[in-house]
Amino acid sequence: MTEINTGASREAIEFHYDMPAEFFALWLGKSMTYTAARFTRPDMTLDEAQLDKINYHLNAAQVGQGHRMLDIGCGWGTLLKSSVELRGAGSAHGLTLSPLQQKYISSLGLPNVSAALQSYEHHQPDKPYDSIISVGAFEHFVKPGIPREERLETYSELFRRCAEWMTRDGRFSLQTMTWGDVGQTERDMNRIHEIFPESDLPEIAEVIEAAHPHLELVSMENRPEDYGRTLAEWAKGLRANRERAIEIVGDERYKFYLDSCKGGSLLYRRRRFYLCRFVFRRRGR
Ligand SMILES: C[S@@+](CC[C@H](N)C(=O)[O-])C[C@H]1O[C@@H](n2cnc3c(N)ncnc32)[C@H](O)[C@@H]1O
Repeated sequence: MTEINTGASREAIEFHYDMPAEFFALWLGKSMTYTAARFTRPDMTLDEAQLDKINYHLNAAQVGQGHRMLDIGCGWGTLLKSSVELRGAGSAHGLTLSPLQQKYISSLGLPNVSAALQSYEHHQPDKPYDSIISVGAFEHFVKPGIPREERLETYSELFRRCAEWMTRDGRFSLQTMTWGDVGQTERDMNRIHEIFPESDLPEIAEVIEAAHPHLELVSMENRPEDYGRTLAEWAKGLRANRERAIEIVGDERYKFYLDSCKGGSLLYRRRRFYLCRFVFRRRGR
């Protein structure tokens, strides 16, 4: 098995995600998901659009009755819970590098739901999965400054493992930010590495190229406007809960999240970042 160790460390993940769940609950909305919603109608609320995203991934990964599903980068466990409660999955297992997220999921005591404080790099399932979903974690799998060939090897190794972990008819639904319509100078000046330390974005072409030997691309959509709206809604939620947010995380961290949301929203609207959803299935079925 190829060794991979080029992604964000646990410390880097903790820097961004290890704030109390109560803080994130103030502004992420009912879904408690920290990734782009899917605004398929102009009049949708954030909560409706988040539910649309959840259903999109459950459908894309064909999560069904009695199925085993894996969520790589499971956040606070919403897709795990939804797989079991909305689709009757027999088991839903999540991986996260955030100790607070893992503790939060365990504290919910949800039947058939489990979460491990473990990188996908060290995951070894005892049985294959029918469905694999990963939303907003791929951005952390490669550090900045890694040469293209090495990035591709790391991404490709992830896809190889997913193919190996899946049943014959298994599906993998992947949502990730990618670099968008942006030149090298603007890219070099971008502050994304300060917001997400030790993390770099893929190019759309890299995702497709890395997956190609292992997984067949079933569909793909690129909807940067989804993140533009989501981030604007989060900024609104943060401002509306300013006092309580500052009580929990302090003034500096409050500003950090607010500025990230405001700045990010603009960059998505300008298509400097893309927001992609890829659906894959196993090759050679
Ligand atoms: C932006 S959050 C997304 C959480 C969730 N999927 C959602 O939609 O709200 C990124 C998640 O990826 C996880 N993560 C980052 N690197 C990882 C790795 N190497 N293995 C497993 N999880 C990882 C983080 O711990 C975090 O839970």
